[in-house]
Amino acid sequence: MARLTDIGWNEFHALPLEAKRPYLERVEGGGMPYHTLFAQQFDRPILERLCALANRIRFINKSKEGALYLKSVLAHKRAMLYFSQPSSRTFLSHLAACQILGVTTGSVRDAATSSEFKGESHEDSIRTFSSYFDMIIMRSPEQGLAEKMSWELSNSSRPIPILNAGSGKDQHPTQALLDIYTLFRSFENKGGIDGKTVVFCGDLMRGRTVRSLSYLLTNFKDVRQVFVAPQELRVPDDVIAVLEEKGVDFKVSDDLQAAVRTADAVYMTRIQDEWDESKGASAKIDTSRFKFGAEELKLLPADGIIMHPLPRRDEIATCCDHDPRAMYWRQMRNGMWIRAALIASTFGFEKSIMECGY
Ligand code: NCD
Repeated sequence: MARLTDIGWNEFHALPLEAKRPYLERVEGGGMPYHTLFAQQFDRPILERLCALANRIRFINKSKEGALYLKSVLAHKRAMLYFSQPSSRTFLSHLAACQILGVTTGSVRDAATSSEFKGESHEDSIRTFSSYFDMIIMRSPEQGLAEKMSWELSNSSRPIPILNAGSGKDQHPTQALLDIYTLFRSFENKGGIDGKTVVFCGDLMRGRTVRSLSYLLTNFKDVRQVFVAPQELRVPDDVIAVLEEKGVDFKVSDDLQAAVRTADAVYMTRIQDEWDESKGASAKIDTSRFKFGAEELKLLPADGIIMHPLPRRDEIATCCDHDPRAMYWRQMRNGMWIRAALIASTFGFEKSIMECGY
């Protein structure tokens, strides 16, 4: 198996994402990642294994005995949550996932409270965390930082796994995992994810969750992807290039209502104005036709679902919240289960949880 210690940083960095996968796998993990950096590390068998493990953890956790067993699984591990970009759900669900498995946690949520404020490099900070912890879960506004740190750590005397909890405008692989788990659960008795139509709407240009999920969906058969956005925020070319290369049926549109009529899942996203190059630039874009409200709810098929990575602003009207097809609250909770499954697998405990007597 290829290892990150076998390859120099520049050579590794230049590889196409899919070619990086073997370098990031867990030894004897049957394809399961050690470092989780991008969606391209997950193929269908791995996604199915993770969803099955998340289901199992969810079930075991229902009884006190089961919950106490889960808490013992990783009671010997510590994780550092290093979030230098705002987060509520991603931070809390990773924290809760650690708690379910008994992992002790530490956190930095603001670079101003760490030595980076005194001018310490990211490399030195990460090296510091690796002295005290067994895993780093990190979110950063810097694209590629998690990847660089994974290489650095693998080549250090204390290699520990990194989970990318959002890197710049680029990728958010664990969000895509929870989105897949939500689709997996929603369509469990409706033929699975194969053959479904997923409509993405909103800021598709800067939404990292869209890039990661769009990629993961290519693992399933005949999934149609529809991208609905204002011209200024349309889906980027690199996403389209992947879909073209994989022969995926996709459409770029600016008509949300037409797309909703044919949707199995509508994935709404927020305008990511924190990335605006000049302040207030996004506010000048007409986004009025890219919101999901009472009208769209009427057009959505009876078995269709509404998703959102959250936080939301006004792109989903609150009148939709109590509709049984509104999946965003359950989607958020699914994040805790699938992240617990990923963390357990990263440390090699998939088999023992799957086969335990609870
Ligand atoms: C997303 C993110 O941070 O990329 N949210 C999340 O992780 N749940 C999307 C967003 O902030 O709009």
